Amino acid sequence: MSTQDQELEAYLSANSKPESQVLYELSRYTNLNTFNPRMVSGHIQGKLFEMIVHMVNPKRVLEIGTFTGYSAICIASALASNAMLDTIEVNDELEDAALCFFQESGLANKINLHIGSALEIIPNLPHSYQLAYIDGDKREYPNYYNLVLPKVEPGGFIIADNVLWSGKVTNKSCNDLHTKAIIEFNQMVTADKRVDNVLLPIRDGLMLIRKL
Ligand SMILES: C[S@@+](CC[C@H](N)C(=O)[O-])C[C@H]1O[C@@H](n2cnc3c(N)ncnc32)[C@H](O)[C@@H]1O
Repeated sequence: MSTQDQELEAYLSANSKPESQVLYELSRYTNLNTFNPRMVSGHIQGKLFEMIVHMVNPKRVLEIGTFTGYSAICIASALASNAMLDTIEVNDELEDAALCFFQESGLANKINLHIGSALEIIPNLPHSYQLAYIDGDKREYPNYYNLVLPKVEPGGFIIADNVLWSGKVTNKSCNDLHTKAIIEFNQMVTADKRVDNVLLPIRDGLMLIRKL
């Protein structure tokens, strides 16, 4: 991150309500103990999810890519008392840490952690959802979309993270599998007549999708 970006990030944080102590500790743990701590959603995006969940008031939310649980806790913190989050993580080495932070946050009873690949788990989930958050392996975004959309109720929302992929989506010389899959995902959503969508340049790019 450039100095200018760091200053902007600090300004955004200073002018938003602070993250909770549990989320601060989770971020710290993630930075000290994981190989790719940058994957964590972080304060501003987490706060945005919290706001969106308050606005949508979903009964059930689906998340692909739990990691250490930052976004899951943000989402769960805004759920109504009878609402639930299903969050899916393929890396079982993250299970203990995520469960520990779910307990610490006091929200464990609202979070159902599924360990395994979302590609195998989603077809077997018996629920329908009013909100889904896609934040797993970028190469699998088109497949996630095809699996998630039928599970989302009409009027429900899907949010997908990292859809600008550090700006690589507009760089013609980037031909790696991650970039190609994100480009394919963005195009397939925009061409899909079953949904309305907007791509927002928040952090690494957020695609907001509403099922018609
Ligand atoms: C960007 S991180 C998620 C960050 C998290 N949402 C947060 O806010 O901290 C992506 C996560 O997706 C997981 N993942 C990758 N492929 C997956 C799959 N097929 N099913 C479920 N999780 C997957 C990775 O192991 C990683 O922990």
